[in-house]
Amino acid sequence: MARIEISSLAKVYPGPKPVNALDHVSLDVAEGEFIALLGPSGCGKSTLLNILAGFESKTEGEVRFDGQPVGKAGPDRGVVFQEAALFPWLTVFDNVTFGPRMQGVAKPVYEKIAHDMLALVGLRDFAHAYPSQLSGGMRQRVGIARVLVMKPRALLMDEPFGALDAQTRLSMQELLLEVWQRLKTTVVFVTHDIDEAVLLADRVCIMSARPARIARQINIDLPRPRSIDDLTTPAFIRYKAEIMQVMRDAHPAKAIAAE
Ligand SMILES: Nc1ncnc2c1ncn2[C@@H]1O[C@H](COP(=O)(O)OP(=O)(O)O)[C@@H](O)[C@H]1O
Ligand SMILES: [Mg+2]
Repeated sequence: MARIEISSLAKVYPGPKPVNALDHVSLDVAEGEFIALLGPSGCGKSTLLNILAGFESKTEGEVRFDGQPVGKAGPDRGVVFQEAALFPWLTVFDNVTFGPRMQGVAKPVYEKIAHDMLALVGLRDFAHAYPSQLSGGMRQRVGIARVLVMKPRALLMDEPFGALDAQTRLSMQELLLEVWQRLKTTVVFVTHDIDEAVLLADRVCIMSARPARIARQINIDLPRPRSIDDLTTPAFIRYKAEIMQVMRDAHPAKAIAAE
């Protein structure tokens, strides 16, 4: 499991009107820690995640994974987006084993881990189904299993449940809590949803308006294992109120309206 060190990371998208997206962000994520990056749309969350993933270049600063400068995208970092881009012509099992097959992993090895991961995400009985036969939540489960078979040292998730209906989102949050409880992978989870951030994370990093800085970090000392029942506890509501206040200060309505 990876330790991630981000120091003074800046990003300007070049162009006729350069966009200043990140303003010298520094953040350390401990091995096995689950952190949430929280902020409204357009504040720079995906930019930060894409730099961690190796999809996007940085303008200044440094990102290290276990002490090594982060390179281009690789299987050590599993990335999950809002939509799982599955191969529609492959079964669930073949989608999930695609990565290890391409890497030349031996068949008995990848078959075992694929079965384990499909069981972990509750899709044991759907190994031979095609993506078109699955609901949105199930497709996202395949997306998670597909990343987990690569045994990533960190999971980078960009609003992975943002396109799901409220009920499905809750069950996916519980699923992710279970997966993390079991695998203890380092997770960086991007969301604009306060409930989601508090429920899942050990630490919530609230981002400022663009160009993004970390406006405030709040440790979430709710006991684990957690479940969606925690959403209504007094301790949970206190965290939520505190974060809403920080969000209000960091993102005044006037500034948002002017976007
Ligand atoms: N490839 C790009 N080129 C130019 N500007 C971009 C690009 N990607 C994102 N931006 C801009 O950078 C800012 C931050 O975007 P993003 O990181 O996607 O925010 P978030 O994920 O928080 O919604 C936005 O103003 C967005 O328009
Ligand atoms: Mg985004």
